[in-house]
Parts: sequence; C-alpha cells; structure tokens
Amino acid sequence: MRTQVAIVGGGPAGLLLSHLLHRQGIASVVLESRDRAYVEHRQRAGMLEQGTTDVLRESGVGERLDREGLVHHGLELRFGGASHRIPLTDLTGRTVTVYAQTEIVKDLVARRLADGGDVRFEAEVVEIDPIAPSVTFRHEGAVRTLECDYVAGCDGFHGVSRPAVPGLRTFEREYSFAWLGVLADVAPSTDELIYAGHERGFALHSLRSPKVSRLYLQVAPDEDLAAWPDERIWSELAARFATDDGWKLHEGPITDKAVTPMRSFVAEPMRHDRLFLAGDAAHIVPPTGAKGLNLAVSDVTILARALIERYELGSETLLDGYSATCLRRVWRAEHFSYWMTTLLHADPAADDFARRLQRSHLDYVGGSVAAKTSLAENYVGLPLE
Ligand code: FAD
Ligand code: DHB
Repeated sequence: MRTQVAIVGGGPAGLLLSHLLHRQGIASVVLESRDRAYVEHRQRAGMLEQGTTDVLRESGVGERLDREGLVHHGLELRFGGASHRIPLTDLTGRTVTVYAQTEIVKDLVARRLADGGDVRFEAEVVEIDPIAPSVTFRHEGAVRTLECDYVAGCDGFHGVSRPAVPGLRTFEREYSFAWLGVLADVAPSTDELIYAGHERGFALHSLRSPKVSRLYLQVAPDEDLAAWPDERIWSELAARFATDDGWKLHEGPITDKAVTPMRSFVAEPMRHDRLFLAGDAAHIVPPTGAKGLNLAVSDVTILARALIERYELGSETLLDGYSATCLRRVWRAEHFSYWMTTLLHADPAADDFARRLQRSHLDYVGGSVAAKTSLAENYVGLPLE
C-alpha cells in the first residue's frame, strides 16, 4: 500500500488534515484505532476560536456549524458572589462559537467518506518509520504496511507518534486537580459561559444547545466518579456559582459524566525527518482556556499549507518552518491556559498569602479594561502567522 501522506489518528487533527489535503488533490490515508461511533461520541471540547471556525467554513465543512453553532460575544468571570463580564467582541472585534468537538468530528468523517476518502477505523498503528517513511498497522486481523512521502502524527497524547521521535525535549506541569465534566438535558442557565473562581473550587458553565448544558467542576486528580451522584454534582455546582443577588442554576438529567486529568505538556521539536506531530500528540494544555482543540486545528492548518507548498511548488520552506511556527502559538496558548487555570482554581496547597494574591489578581482582571483586553485577546485566539 502506498499514499502521499499517512495520517495516524482520526481525531479532529487527523481528519481535518486529510480533508484540507484532499481539497488540493493530495492523497492521504487516515488510520484510527477506535471505531467510528467511539470517535464521534467522545465528549470533549466545545469552544471554537474565530480562526478555527474560519478554517472549517472556508474549507467547506461549516454548513452545520453555521446553522447550529452558538456565536458568543462575551464571557463571565464570577467570583466573590458577583459577575464580571469580559466583552470579547467589543475588546477584540472577534467572536467565539460553541460547537462541540463531537459534531466537528461527525462533519469531517461524513465529508471525508462522501469525498471517497480513505479513513480506516479500528486500524491501530503499531510502528512508524520517520526516515524511510511508512507506518505499520493492525486492521481486520492482519498487519499491513503503508508507505508514504510523509507521516502526520495526529494520534493524541497517548499515541505512538511522539515516541517515534528520538531526542525530544519535553516540558511539563502537573496540577493538583482535575475536572469532572457533565452533560445535562437542561436549558443552560446562562447565555454566556461562566468561569467561576470559588474557595470550594473552580466551576464552568458552558452549553451545547438551547436544551443541553455542559458543566465542569474542579475535583481531585484521583477523584472517584462513584462519589459523585447527580444530586451532589448539582449542589456543588450551585454552591460555586452562587451570587449575592440569588442567581439560579437549572437542574436536569445528567447524560454523561467523566473526570479529565489536567496537565501542561510540550514536546519540541514537532518534527523528525518525514514525521510531523500535530495536536495533542505534541502538546497538552489544561482546558481552562479552551485551547486544546483550537491548537490542533491551527497545527494542521499550518501543516496542510506546508505540504501543499511542497507538492505544488516543490519547496520545503514551510515544512522546515513548521515546528517553529507552531511552537510560537503553542507556547502562547500554554501560558494563557496556565494563567487562566491558576487564576481560577483553588490550589489545595495554597497558603493564605497565595489566596489573597489570587483574589487581588481576580479583582484586577474584573476591574481593569487593560487586563480584560489581554484576557480577551488570548481567549479569542491569535490570527495564524
Ligand atoms: P485526539 O482527539 O486525542 O485524537 C487522536 C486520535 O488518535 C484518537 O481518535 C485516538 O483514538 C487515535 N489514536 C491514538 N493512538 C493511535 C494509534 N496507535 N493508531 C491509530 N490511532 C490512534 N479541550 C478543550 O479545549 N476543552 C475541553 O473541555 C476539553 N476536554 C477534554 C477532555 C478529555 C477527556 C480529553 C482527552 C481532552 C480534552 N480537551 C479539551 C482537549 C481536546 O479535546 C483535544 O485538544 C483535541 O481532542 C485534540 O485533537 P487531536 O486530534 O490532536 O487528538
Ligand atoms: C468548554 C470547555 C472548556 O474547556 C472551556 O474553557 C470552555 C468551554 C466546553 O466544553 O464547552
């Protein structure tokens, strides 16, 4: 078997890369270890930067996003029993859109298959050769090898691509908390996202549709889901979102519950010979800044441009700059995600001094146009270089 670009992993990064390459006549094969239903229903991110929606729309997969995505012009920071709005669009001229990762994946899978794309589910890559480029995978009981010009490692944090890069330098932070994320069949209690910093811990109110809410609670990293029956989740959320003016949280049946560990991680460089890493395979951010999925999209947009330049003009200039170009954006998102996380979470190891500093920082962000503008600029995302 042979193709131009072998893509390891059929998450948002791998599927979008395959789609962008196809539009310029470049062939690829996507190898995804899980089945289609699993990748289409795995609950994850939901907040898209304008740059991300632009890429989806301009590449012709924005039709349902335009119909069902919820465009937002601001967000709310909530602390000390009061609300502080960050008017994202007034401060930056840009918007963000709530549209779940599950829906992006469904749209991309449907589009790749409609375009005759080669997307293989339950095809687990077991070995990558970055130098004489090829990938070896297990599919339908057989072991096969796919030869190619380039390999795109889009297989997430636990994939096989990153270990195939020798001499990587890695940078990492672990946090002493995790998120318990729930999906609930209840109308959102808010029009805009609420990021709440509370002494009991962080909480986030997001949404999926006019009838479905997405909520997150800071919990311990080793939290046992069994200790969180629905009533406890709702009462803890209500306590963390409480305001002095009696704001009410609507409750409803919880349809999905999971604990997500939090870490910051960067691997450098994002390339070894013919192997290019993209998305979670190369970097992880804690979810507070809503950057993980957006970074995956910007990485593959940059990679697609570089591969198109290589195939159309024969030039490797953009491929040679790929890692450095991505890493500038990655490190900005790493800093912002770390900053939002430490601003809003209750650190169990914090002493009184640290807690007072954190509150002063929140008051400053809530009260200063300059500080709000900085948050807004990072949240809506930087334009692609
Ligand atoms: P992934 O989505 O991880 O896709 C990688 C794919 O590769 C997977 O489908 C996997 O099955 C496949 N794969 C792995 N190994 C192999 C192999 N050997 N062979 C073939 N295929 C393989 N971000 C936010 O912004 N907000 C959030 O709330 C949020 N919540 C998250 C919750 C969880 C549990 C996780 C894990 C991540 C979350 N993220 C969140 C991050 C965001 O979802 C990711 O940044 C995004 O999924 C990255 O996309 P990706 O395509 O790079 O990787
Ligand atoms: C969502 C997740 C995030 O991590 C975030 O910062 C905002 C929204 C979401 O799942 O909707």
